[in-house]
Amino acid sequence: MNALVEQRQQAQLHFQQGEQNIIVGDAAACPLPPEQLAALDADSPYVVEVFEGGLTAVVYHLCINGRHYNLKKRRAQALVHNVDGETSFLNEVQRRRDIQALKDKPSTAKAYQHIVTTLYANYRLGFMLSPWIEGKPLCSFSREIFRQIFDTQFALEQAGLMEWDLSPGNIIYDGRQIHLFDFGYMYPYDPLEHFNSDGLAAPDFHAVERLETRNVFGYLLRYQDVMTAADQLAIYRELKEAALDVYTQKLIWLKQNYAQPAIIQWQTEIIERWEYALDNERSLKNLFIAESFRSHCLDIADDISGKSCTPMTLKRIDKVITMAATVYLQLQNNGALLFDNAELEQVDLIKKYQDYRQLAAQYQQK
Ligand SMILES: Nc1ncnc2c1ncn2[C@@H]1O[C@H](COP(=O)(O)OP(=O)(O)O)[C@@H](O)[C@H]1O
Ligand SMILES: [Mg+2]
Repeated sequence: MNALVEQRQQAQLHFQQGEQNIIVGDAAACPLPPEQLAALDADSPYVVEVFEGGLTAVVYHLCINGRHYNLKKRRAQALVHNVDGETSFLNEVQRRRDIQALKDKPSTAKAYQHIVTTLYANYRLGFMLSPWIEGKPLCSFSREIFRQIFDTQFALEQAGLMEWDLSPGNIIYDGRQIHLFDFGYMYPYDPLEHFNSDGLAAPDFHAVERLETRNVFGYLLRYQDVMTAADQLAIYRELKEAALDVYTQKLIWLKQNYAQPAIIQWQTEIIERWEYALDNERSLKNLFIAESFRSHCLDIADDISGKSCTPMTLKRIDKVITMAATVYLQLQNNGALLFDNAELEQVDLIKKYQDYRQLAAQYQQK
């Protein structure tokens, strides 16, 4: 277990067991007394709809005096299987406190405009209150959308925060702008010393990879039958161009702030790899193959370890098996085989994902 991660988990478990509270904002911003909001359930006349999918919280869409709110309430009993899941409600209240401070400051407010406002949050009362965002889960992409997502991640990183879960259900699009609102898996880190909140242990994880892994490559796989390879590559090119712009700015910022040489080198290598790929269609296709494989493998590993598989996990596994069977050497040459996959021969890699397929079938979420 990574020492930094363990330290954070221990501190959060300790905080959970204590009495200390975290309050964000002013109770006067609540349309009802906080105790009443904390006690509210699905039978309340204020409830418009309920989102029950979360493991540690339930989300209520409320309408009170003609205004719409999002009330995220901690479950009495978490339905989780690991420490990060168990502490994700506390983690989100902590992050909302950090982010709201940045949103409240005129000099930094604009950089966080795509992050939902927290009207009020009270950890011990077990709820967070935000305005309701009119829109739909993000279901198509454009250069502008990529730009908004990566700009926001860069602003968060500058504030020392790393978001791990940029999955489709965590991004709302209102037709003009994207909105982020779920911070259960956003952790503090030092961007000048570390690659991410795992420290220096896992350089493969970073903001752009997170969006690709949790979101974009799943989307491309889901729609592979209705999209041509050229359409897919066009979306990927837009993503990479927006990402390259933002990471180039990030590199300048890292240098200006005397980041550790290892961090500057890491960021430079990512940029150079993308610049090379964007230079011609063939290299871009190679990178697409390598990164799609990497992303599917990372997402599968997450689903299997959390025992939270879906039909999409099976689809990703089938894709990984096909790719391992057909383009193994290309994957190996392009650095797509990460962690223990790097040591596996082709047959063993295929066998591993065939076994995963059986596990994933068992772990289908109800
Ligand atoms: N402020 C909001 N405005 C509109 N919809 C929201 C808002 N917050 C959450 N949602 C909806 O509720 C769902 C669950 O919220 P989220 O914070 O992601 O909870 P969970 O931790 O359970 O994933 C989201 O996928 C989104 O559709
Ligand atoms: Mg969510």
